Amino acid sequence: MAGSDNVTKPLTILITGASAGIGRITCERLAKQKHRFVLAARSVDKLATLESQLRSMGCECLSVPTDVSDPSAIERLVKAAVERFGRIDVLVNNAGIECFSSFDELPVDQILQTIETNLTGAILLTRFVVPVMRKQGFGRIINISSIAGKHGPAYGAVYGATKAGLIAFTQALRGELKPAGILATVICPGFATRGGIYDEIVKATGKRTPKILGGTSAETVAAAIEKAIQTAPPEMILNFPAMRPVFLFRDFFPRLGEKLILATTLKFLKRAATHGK
Ligand SMILES: NC(=O)c1ccc[n+]([C@@H]2O[C@H](COP(=O)([O-])OP(=O)(O)OC[C@H]3O[C@@H](n4cnc5c(N)ncnc54)[C@H](OP(=O)(O)O)[C@@H]3O)[C@@H](O)[C@H]2O)c1
Repeated sequence: MAGSDNVTKPLTILITGASAGIGRITCERLAKQKHRFVLAARSVDKLATLESQLRSMGCECLSVPTDVSDPSAIERLVKAAVERFGRIDVLVNNAGIECFSSFDELPVDQILQTIETNLTGAILLTRFVVPVMRKQGFGRIINISSIAGKHGPAYGAVYGATKAGLIAFTQALRGELKPAGILATVICPGFATRGGIYDEIVKATGKRTPKILGGTSAETVAAAIEKAIQTAPPEMILNFPAMRPVFLFRDFFPRLGEKLILATTLKFLKRAATHGK
């Protein structure tokens, strides 16, 4: 593990959005290594259920009901984690909400809630956690972005903006914090099946993304988070077929690349945005 001289096992892992989807599946996977967990999300009951499940797997666990869009709740979360375990080795900024809609029909409060949950919450939580990691001389920060952060999706302008923000945020942290033994990774999943937001969209619309666009699964994201803890790469794009060549093509040929991306996504995204209206 790079920069791991000061690390003790088991790791203390603070994860937001632990109550459902990718967050919950990640905890279940990492629990096999008997780590310690600080679980954050708003749903008290779901957190309690996960906590007892992880305890039954032999893990120490603390759940802290937290709304990451509330800065004082974030500060309390970090205090509670340090009081209980004395350190935070891994921070996974996973909590997120989507808001697919025509941009000019989005209510202002929904725009603000999305930014505060997906971006400001992650930035502030990291702000409170980094001093703890600095003292330890070790830390891993894993930000869950999306391929929507690599190319802003039509009808997902605000969601895409928050996810692009997380990518730049991670790059900046890497440049700054490496000498302190703290490494950040951003993970950009495609549409993920078997648990999470995408499944909800499919349930609501009855339609899947076009086959050519492919996707990933919640388990694959969980496996990538585990790998990021060990090897701390700068950026992981999770999709099959691979998306990096598509983004490279788009960077070289912006107009053609944009056409290609819209041809494969626009219909699905418009349907997701207009469903129920
Ligand atoms: N699933 C996909 O296809 C996909 C693809 C790319 C990226 N992602 C990203 O992966 C992450 C996890 O998504 P998911 O698919 O697992 O979604 P999900 O099943 O809807 O779970 C979202 C989690 O975030 C928590 N959350 C939402 N608002 C919160 C708030 N204000 N404060 C604290 N926690 C909050 C939810 O818990 P509570 O409701 O209990 O608070 C829940 O645990 C998100 O950042 C998402 O953007 C997902």
